[in-house]
Amino acid sequence: MRVAVIGTGYVGLVSGACFSEFGVEVVCVDTDAAKIERLQRGEMPIYEPGLEGLVAGNMAAGRLVFTTNLEAAVRGADAVFIAVGTPSRRGDGHADLSHVFAAAEEIGRALAEHASERDGHETVVVTKSTVPVGTGRAVAAILARVCPRGGFAVASNPEFLREGSAIEDFMRPDRVVIGADSERARTVMRQLYRPLSLIERPIVFTDIETAELIKYAANAFLATKITFINEIADLCERVGADVQDVARGIGLDGRIGRKFLHVGPGFGGSCFPKDCRALVRTAREAEAPLSIVETVVGVNDARKTRMADKIIAACGGSVAGKSLAVLGLTFKPNTDDMRDAPSLAILPRLLAAGAAIRAFDPEGIAEARKLLPDLVYCRDAYEAMEGADGLILLTEWNEFRALDLARVGRLLACPLVVDLRNIYGPPEMAAAGLTYVSLGRPSRHPASAS
Ligand SMILES: NC(=O)c1ccc[n+]([C@@H]2O[C@H](COP(=O)([O-])OP(=O)(O)OC[C@H]3O[C@@H](n4cnc5c(N)ncnc54)[C@H](O)[C@@H]3O)[C@@H](O)[C@H]2O)c1
Repeated sequence: MRVAVIGTGYVGLVSGACFSEFGVEVVCVDTDAAKIERLQRGEMPIYEPGLEGLVAGNMAAGRLVFTTNLEAAVRGADAVFIAVGTPSRRGDGHADLSHVFAAAEEIGRALAEHASERDGHETVVVTKSTVPVGTGRAVAAILARVCPRGGFAVASNPEFLREGSAIEDFMRPDRVVIGADSERARTVMRQLYRPLSLIERPIVFTDIETAELIKYAANAFLATKITFINEIADLCERVGADVQDVARGIGLDGRIGRKFLHVGPGFGGSCFPKDCRALVRTAREAEAPLSIVETVVGVNDARKTRMADKIIAACGGSVAGKSLAVLGLTFKPNTDDMRDAPSLAILPRLLAAGAAIRAFDPEGIAEARKLLPDLVYCRDAYEAMEGADGLILLTEWNEFRALDLARVGRLLACPLVVDLRNIYGPPEMAAAGLTYVSLGRPSRHPASAS
């Protein structure tokens, strides 16, 4: 099997590396020449655990190559995956499909160029990017226009990997979803994912529209679950209940499940916010509005603002002239991805209110510097805390889960910890003499702990 993957971002690069690990010959393509040059040297353009070794091994085995030459990559490929970005279109929240359509045009031209060589061999063009219902058909129409001789089939294969555990998610997914309406497409996709059927991972075959919608429905459902527990946390604070126990108490119900019931500052990242917005847009256009998802988007946006207010309140009502240590800037741990991270909504508000911010993140600083230029970036968590008037835990990286609390107390000028991920417990914080503010559970002040 030979595969071309168009777009070498978080999804394209991981998919390409994992397919090559399955023994498939993979050519990864990107328009970003600097990115391709780095990859050809074996340097990773993103931080994703395990990726560098996987790429190096498969490059050395000659199964994985990187190029900017789409035409050459498509030549002789059994399948061509489109894995380019689909960000929110400015203004209306619709998915911006310009990269997808540009890739489809180029693929069509490459197919047309080599039509005679292919001699009845149908190339399957697969949309892996998250795209609104109808995009697969639009891609097919572009291909048909650019390559009227045909010789292709289309499929939708939305990706469910999570940054931070992307390789494991790709290699051992809960399921693979394949939308196709031709036998050729189904056969090629079945063959490509054969290693997963051998480990009994379910493959869900549907039509193209259904596969496209499954991806959005999954993300919107997960975003709703997060937003639900966040609102329950707010209620807990009002009525003196503990959200950790509520989450456990409901999550043990098999119908509900324990995952995605972790309270936090609001979901962010490169997928949930934009995908919820795009789904809202699709639903409105189809005159079947999704009021639940619309509410989730609104509640989540408002929450990030309120988190800044919560920090200011914890600091006694003002952060003017205060120095705050912030740990974690990426939208979640184990990634360098800063897209739509809660830090981007919360920290500018604290700066505007007069705070100075000393920040540390294990992998996100290079990207954060571009987006949050007014922070002081520190070399580690403890350097960020030196002389600060409070510590804000924003992203739950493992290395922030086991801080030396006595040292934290010594370094901070004011012993305040605001934990927006609930990674510590009120008793241990009280025992360390720290004033602790977390989400959805009673805050304990050292004075009230004894
Ligand atoms: N990041 C995730 O965790 C994740 C998970 C599941 C699905 N998705 C979806 O996968 C898609 C890709 O997301 P990503 O995070 O990998 O994006 P990304 O922005 O990291 O990468 C996209 C890449 O595509 C390249 N590109 C754009 N146009 C191109 C073209 N015409 N030809 C070749 N290369 C081109 C860009 O240069 C970039 O390197 C999106 O639709 C996203 O919603 C992402």
